[in-house]
Amino acid sequence: MKAKYERVMIKLSGEALAGDQGFGINPSTVKDICTSIKSVYDLGVEISIVVGGGNFWRGRQSDEMDKSTADYMGMLATVLNALALQDSLEGMGIPVRVQTAIEMREIAEPYIKRKAVRHLEKNRIVIFAAGTGNPFFTTDTTAALRAAEIDANIILLAKNVDAVYDSDPNINPDAKKYSHLSYLDVINRGLKVMDSTAITLCMDNHIPILVFGLNDPKNILRAISGEKIGTLINGDKNE
Ligand code: GTP
Repeated sequence: MKAKYERVMIKLSGEALAGDQGFGINPSTVKDICTSIKSVYDLGVEISIVVGGGNFWRGRQSDEMDKSTADYMGMLATVLNALALQDSLEGMGIPVRVQTAIEMREIAEPYIKRKAVRHLEKNRIVIFAAGTGNPFFTTDTTAALRAAEIDANIILLAKNVDAVYDSDPNINPDAKKYSHLSYLDVINRGLKVMDSTAITLCMDNHIPILVFGLNDPKNILRAISGEKIGTLINGDKNE
């Protein structure tokens, strides 16, 4: 199998790491995800990863909490997930570097763009943790920002649904599945793919996004090989 992309950004939701238990880290789920990432790595693709933190903490869980504080807690949650992914990937013999947007040097190296690129060139997987380091930004925005900085060819947005639909397919059995959308379609139709900051960052920097389901971990490999799965979002006009 040949890879269609040279350098990719994989965005994983924190929930994806929790498996059926719905909270925290499920080691066998993490192992399954890392096994599929390894299959992509073995093709020679340069891989960067941003992981969310929703399996530990989801934004502000009460109105009484200060929004910035809640967001900083979320950033710390992403560090837990990044270290779990690093541990699992390294267990498979893959060199991995975690870089954090908030300095915590005893735990991981700080985010330095030029060092991240160098790691990728040396076939190390780079995991970007602690979001952008700023409250009010999501990990989707982190994925878009880092993808732009390191010149990734595409963002692979692994979700708990297999594509983008015009309404929730779990509620509406007639929900229409999109195979292609433009950035503006996503914004104008209010489709809940990424938040608007993340999607406009991708639009302005011409970074395509492939949304696909992680229910079958082999989908990452399918996505990399250019198989038509999920929903592709780019600057082309809608079909
Ligand atoms: P090259 O210089 O390209 O060979 O990269 P390298 O990452 O192998 O070398 P470096 O000497 O920078 O790092 C060696 C190890 O220390 C790697 O596992 C890094 O992730 C880790 N490391 C580097 N800087 C820091 C840091 O500030 N904090 C922590 N905790 N680890 C670091």
